[in-house]
Amino acid sequence: MNIPAIPAERLPELLRAMPKAELHIHIEGSLEPELIFALAERNGVALPYASVEELRRAYAFTNLQSFLDIYYAGASVLLKEQDFHDMAWAYLQRAAQDGVVRAEIFFDPQTHTARGVPMATVIAGLHRACQAARAQLGVDAELILCFLRHLSEEEAFETLEQALPWRDKFIGVGLDSSELGHPPEKFARVFARCRELGLHCVAHAGEEGPPAYVWSALDVLKVERIDHGVQSAKDPALMARLAQDRIPLTVCPLSNQKLCVFSDLRQHNLRQLLDAGLMATVNSDDPAYFGGYLGENFSQTFAALGLDCGHAYRLARNSLEASFASPEAKRAWIERLDAVFERFAAGG
Ligand code: HPA
Ligand code: ZN
Repeated sequence: MNIPAIPAERLPELLRAMPKAELHIHIEGSLEPELIFALAERNGVALPYASVEELRRAYAFTNLQSFLDIYYAGASVLLKEQDFHDMAWAYLQRAAQDGVVRAEIFFDPQTHTARGVPMATVIAGLHRACQAARAQLGVDAELILCFLRHLSEEEAFETLEQALPWRDKFIGVGLDSSELGHPPEKFARVFARCRELGLHCVAHAGEEGPPAYVWSALDVLKVERIDHGVQSAKDPALMARLAQDRIPLTVCPLSNQKLCVFSDLRQHNLRQLLDAGLMATVNSDDPAYFGGYLGENFSQTFAALGLDCGHAYRLARNSLEASFASPEAKRAWIERLDAVFERFAAGG
């Protein structure tokens, strides 16, 4: 649709109200320090931090690895089905408040199975929260199982095998954890198997890693979306490919700022990606660690980059179109999106 004129002062309200999808959220990254301490107490797990405040003070990251070390330590308090449920439910309630109508949620089973937590426990708890979100919050939530790329492809195969009894409870697979030194092609065979199984495929690429990793995620893993992908701007041929094939990028501005991918939010290249015709989306990545959920990612990025209502419409629409929901569901959400913009244009 033609974007109607909406007064700039209503932009913050519009950003929150517009229906949108969140496509890049690690559920373990939504674990707030308060819940980490509550679960540690509930489960009798000792933490190397004396208080919530001390833990929060440790959230001063210099790169991806400095974050991952603390993120995996935080996840160690998750033991029971109820813990996984409570974590996901807390996230989904926040997402609903931010206007999220669809959430495609990453989880890292290897972080839990390595500690002796059964795959069934992880998936059952997360799945129960997703079902409750659909019924009680109107949020359509699905799970995407991520392989940890610092581990071997053989371990990824074992993880897939363990998860297959719950094949109907996740819609796809992803690739996350330490990017540098672990290129997508390391997982070529396991992704080929996942494609045969009819699973959707996505991968983190070009967060810290070079454009070559984005190329191999596309051409070797044959992923449908690139998670992050901001380093693609260094390669004009790659930018042309991403635009031509309408490959969605799940960009995470506050994450990129916290992990020093960009020195400052004002230096972020989201506007450049949109101007080049890429199908960029905005997401929160690990909101408990990076200073904000989806609403904060939108409001802070729009303020820092001076984005407007046209960008807001484009980003919300991209997120809905880039989701793995049915064409009918997407059509219905886009109609709601258009209705919200028309209401704001009419002063309502
Ligand atoms: N990058 C890679 N792995 C991750 C991230 C991330 O931003 N968050 C959680 N696991
Ligand atoms: Zn991520």
